[in-house]
Order: sequence, then structure tokens, then C-alpha cells
Amino acid sequence: MIVVSGIQPTGNLHLGNYLGAIRQWVAMQDAMQADDTCLFFLADLHALTQPLVPAELAANTIEMAATLIACGVDPDRAILFNQARVPEHSELAWLLGGTARVGWLNRMTQWKDKAGKNREGQSVGLFTYPVLQAADVLLYRATHVPVGDDQKQHLELARDIATKFNTDFAVELFPQPEPYISPAAPRIMSLRDGAAKMSKSDPSDASRINLIDDDDTIAQKLRRAKTDPEPLPDDPAALAGRPEAQNLVTIYAALARQTGEQVLATFAGKGFGQFKPALADLAVAELSPIRARLTQLLGDRAEVGALLAQGAARARTLAAPTLLAAQRASGLQI
Ligand code: TYM
Repeated sequence: MIVVSGIQPTGNLHLGNYLGAIRQWVAMQDAMQADDTCLFFLADLHALTQPLVPAELAANTIEMAATLIACGVDPDRAILFNQARVPEHSELAWLLGGTARVGWLNRMTQWKDKAGKNREGQSVGLFTYPVLQAADVLLYRATHVPVGDDQKQHLELARDIATKFNTDFAVELFPQPEPYISPAAPRIMSLRDGAAKMSKSDPSDASRINLIDDDDTIAQKLRRAKTDPEPLPDDPAALAGRPEAQNLVTIYAALARQTGEQVLATFAGKGFGQFKPALADLAVAELSPIRARLTQLLGDRAEVGALLAQGAARARTLAAPTLLAAQRASGLQI
């Protein structure tokens, strides 16, 4: 198994990133066998596709690397690095730019959502973003890519790019990367709107639980989370049409490592006045130790930077042969 995944260092991590992606990363790392490799990276090159403040990008990269370590990513076992330190990502992305089709990129929902009506005013990078993402996984010949549901389409594109590259150049270079989407938390929704995903770009901080929120803030955000006046049902099917209630039950189940049925068996007939404090207790119990480890790690940012540099050196030794093979296939090298 070659497991690869990334996250953009564009601010704080939230509960959606944690339950949808990072907890899976850690589980896969912990279940790793001798022949397996796990690579996790901060997608700092991807962050360049949106307006940014350079000093903030550098600081966020260190802070988010520290957050990943605090969540359980172990730089001794997994290869943890930032993308910009492994130039093979950009080089392979350029090669794959010859393979990807404009029509494929035009269909990407994330591009359509982010560009909105102002396509002409977007950076070229925002449009070609999924090609770099394909390079990220194909560079390591990834077999498994643990992501939230919102990244599924980008992974399907990576599979199409892999197939077309192999076919066009008559090689068996890239295996098909398999998206691994957490069954427990494929898409955590906003606390203010059950139809929108929890996201760091939501202007309302009350819409998300940040991994750096203190215990009181976590409890307060959950207490104020939008719900409906009905009590919880005994059957998960009865949550259909109640997106906010459904989301809180999903979060509870993911945190408690239970099924929705199990959660409803405990809370059926009870109102949110009882459910929300129990959910807050669970969230605090999970996130408070992570925050404590993070505070400790941020006491030595240089050490986190050194860990990233070591990770990048390890990643480059794995990336170089694939890039060379892709260059040979394309006629750039003999
Ligand atoms: P990013 O930084 O937006 O999110 C990082 C990971 O968190 C997941 N996620 C969620 N999961 C469940 N519910 C949510 N509300 C939620 N919000 C975010 C995302 O699905 C993702 O797994 N393009 C990627 C970064 C990337 C990447 C890659 C990922 C670059 N190259 C190669 C995998 C492989 C992104 O912007 O994720």
C-alpha cells in the first residue's frame, strides 16, 4: 500500500478535516505493514492558487504540520513534508498538463464553485489545480488516497490522467489511485447550515469547530449549532430532511466511534438540550489533548521545520524515479 494525501496550509484545521481525513491518515499509518509507505504533505503549492499573504503561508505551513503531528501523524513512520520542498511535484504536474484535457478541468465542481461567475479573473493555477493534485499522488504511484468526499472528483480526474498517460505513451507507469473516503464522516457539514460543508473559507467562525478552539468555545459553538425543535428519532432513516440533526448525529457517531443506530439507541426521544452537552463533552475529550500537544510542539517551530525538511528529503528519493520514468516515457530523457 502506498498511501498519499495532502491538506492546504490555509489556516486552522477544523473538525471536518480531522474526522473526514486526518483521523484516517493516522489509522492507515498505524495499521501500516513493513512494505507499506504513508506520505502526508502540506499542499503549499496549491495554496498559491488563491490570494495569499506570504508570511502567513510560511507560518501556517509550520502550524499545520504541528497540528498533524499533534493529531497523531508520526514523522518517524509516515513521511511528512511540504510540497514546495519536493520540486518533482511541479515538474510532474507540467508533464501531466500535456495529458489532462481542458474539458475535464471545466467539469470540476470545485473550480466552478470557487470561480463562480468570475472565471476570467481567476488564477490559471486555480483552473489547473487538479493536475497538480494528480501529480501529487501519481508521483509516488499511490494506491490509496484518504480524503473527504469533496475530493472524490479530483481523484477521479487523477485516475483518468493516469490511464491516458499510460495509454498515450504505452507504459504501465501509474497505477490507479483509489480514493479512501471515511464511511463514518465523508462530509461534515457547517454548524450553521446543514446544506453547506464545514469549511475554513466560511466567513462565520461559528460554522466550524477549529482544532485550536478552547473547551468553552467548542461547547458554545455546539450549543448554538442550528437544529430543529423535534426530538431525536430512533431510526436513522427518520433523519432524512433534517440535515442539521443528521450532521450532529454523524459528528457524535464519528467521535464516539459508533454507528448512527447506536447513537440514536441512546438518544431516541431526547431533545437537543440533552444531546448537545453530551456531544460537547465528546468533542472536548477528543480535541483537548490534541490542542495540548499542539501548544507544546509550537514551542519549538524550528524543530517542526527540521522535521519537514527531513520528510522532504525522504519524499524526494521516492519521487525521483517516477519523475525520471515519466520524462523517459515523454521523450524528455533517454
Ligand atoms: P483541503 O485542504 O480542503 O482539505 C483537507 C482534507 O480534509 C477533507 N475535508 C473534509 N472532510 C469531511 N468533511 C468536511 N467538511 C471536510 N472539509 C475538508 C478534504 O476532503 C481533504 O481530504 N485539494 C486538497 C489538498 C490536496 C490533496 C492532494 C489531497 C492537494 N493534493 C493530493 C489528496 C491528495 C484540499 O484542498 O484539501
